[in-house]
Amino acid sequence: MSSRQLLPSWKKLAKHADNMKLQHMNDLFATDENRFDKFSIELPNMLLDYSKNLIDSETKQSLIELANECELAAWRNKMFSGEKINKTEDRAVLHTALRGSVDEDLVLDGKNISQQVNDQLEKMANFVEQVRQGRWLGYSGKRITDIVNIGVGGSNLGPQMVTEALKNYSDNCVNVHYVSNVDGAQIAEILRPLEPEKVLFIVSSKTFTTTETMTNAKTAINWLTAASFDEKSVAKHFVAVTANTENAMSFGIKQENIFDMWDWVGGRFSLWSAIGLAIALDLGFDKFKQLLAGANAMDKHFVEAPFEQNMPVIMALLSVWNTTFLGAKSQAILPYDQTLHMLAAYLQQAEMESNGKSVTWDGSEISYPTVPSIWGELGINGQHAFYQYLHQSNNVVPADFIGSVASVTPIKGHHETLMANFFAQTQALMTGVDEQQVREDLQAKGRTADYIDKVAPHKVHKGNRPTNTILLKRIDPYNLGQLIALYEHKIFVQGIILQVCSFDQWGVELGKGLAANIQQELENKKLSANHDCSTKRLMNYYLSAKT
Ligand code: F6P
Repeated sequence: MSSRQLLPSWKKLAKHADNMKLQHMNDLFATDENRFDKFSIELPNMLLDYSKNLIDSETKQSLIELANECELAAWRNKMFSGEKINKTEDRAVLHTALRGSVDEDLVLDGKNISQQVNDQLEKMANFVEQVRQGRWLGYSGKRITDIVNIGVGGSNLGPQMVTEALKNYSDNCVNVHYVSNVDGAQIAEILRPLEPEKVLFIVSSKTFTTTETMTNAKTAINWLTAASFDEKSVAKHFVAVTANTENAMSFGIKQENIFDMWDWVGGRFSLWSAIGLAIALDLGFDKFKQLLAGANAMDKHFVEAPFEQNMPVIMALLSVWNTTFLGAKSQAILPYDQTLHMLAAYLQQAEMESNGKSVTWDGSEISYPTVPSIWGELGINGQHAFYQYLHQSNNVVPADFIGSVASVTPIKGHHETLMANFFAQTQALMTGVDEQQVREDLQAKGRTADYIDKVAPHKVHKGNRPTNTILLKRIDPYNLGQLIALYEHKIFVQGIILQVCSFDQWGVELGKGLAANIQQELENKKLSANHDCSTKRLMNYYLSAKT
């Protein structure tokens, strides 16, 4: 049994969960007209309604006690003050410093963090201005029209998600493209319409060793030099963002064209650093700074608000409640705003790579369910695809509904229809419809008794499906920064409560290592005897079908 399970609040919650599983939210709403006031939090540009969860005041109280017994406030201080809370990699976790949320004088391993951040921001600002004003010229003297960001995972998902979300704020000074897949089909398609003399590549890789990124970067260099007939053109068309300057330089990228990243920034939390360069090139540096300011505002809220009114804390505790105590296995992310179409993909990495683990900080096996699997899609598209499952399957999937009050592209009638669905779905998931109601509705429509007997069980919706609703005033750089930081801190809190190391990712290493060996075997057409018969036969089939 893990030490968490011995905490008084944990024991209380486990017992309380047995009782709450017998409750229906309809009754909780019927008996408490203040439910919304009790279970919602409003910030200047954002509202969180979490009243449609299977909770009551006792649940909330016990969850807050759990946060206190897990010493959440002390852990939060450790993170913001640069303590090395990434224990397995012996690193600090300071992505908050990238948006100005640390002491000016924070010194880590003898280096002034704020100074390092400011220097890089200044370097980014200068570079962005040069490119956007047409002063950064390609090998033939022409201005840059297209930016291609090459990176994967945290070096891709954050920047691309934000670029997509803020498209309406771009002045189209440059066109931004993202290459992440090592499948050559992606880079080939992106490069096909582009003119090499006008393209700038950003090779984004914290480690500068990631095979997929290195392979794409080499292809990009070949594509450029095949047109320029000059190795030196690389200097004018390639910049790098990395914590591994040496590797980037040996790749042919000039030192002054390398933007720094640091080991105290995790890849999936790095869009605020120069990893976000493509965002800044697309929007201009002022709007990039608004994104940082929004995240900084959420940092302040996370640090200052009491747990009862603290959005990231409450969202994390609800996830623990729904998953660990009530047994949900997955969680859906359902944005009702086209601009957020990549949010679920982004949050998959953010939450699952952070907390998809099964041993505690001290390495002992965890005996309780930890984080759910995260999946999702734009709400309206989901409604016509998988919402059937959300409403009537025998798996309960808690969901976050995220919408905006004002559309960034208002067209008469559209936003109203969208938001009507947004409100209807969380209500329907909660209230459901019981058999008596189904029968009465069918009778009112004049259906025969036989028909009603046959169809009624299929039309019953049990309801009682938990949802959070997040309403933003609109999707703009500042509010988006707030939203992303909200989820970052939620993930941190989950990690503390569940006792997992949120900032390492050892689980991606095994497959990486095997792939490197297998690639050599395939190239040499000589398979190792160590493979299981399935893998060996698959590889043999591949090799023989190829030749
Ligand atoms: O393989 C997973 C991972 O290490 C992620 O954590 C990271 O975001 C991604 O690969 C890319 O890594 P890098 O920026 O070092 O290329």
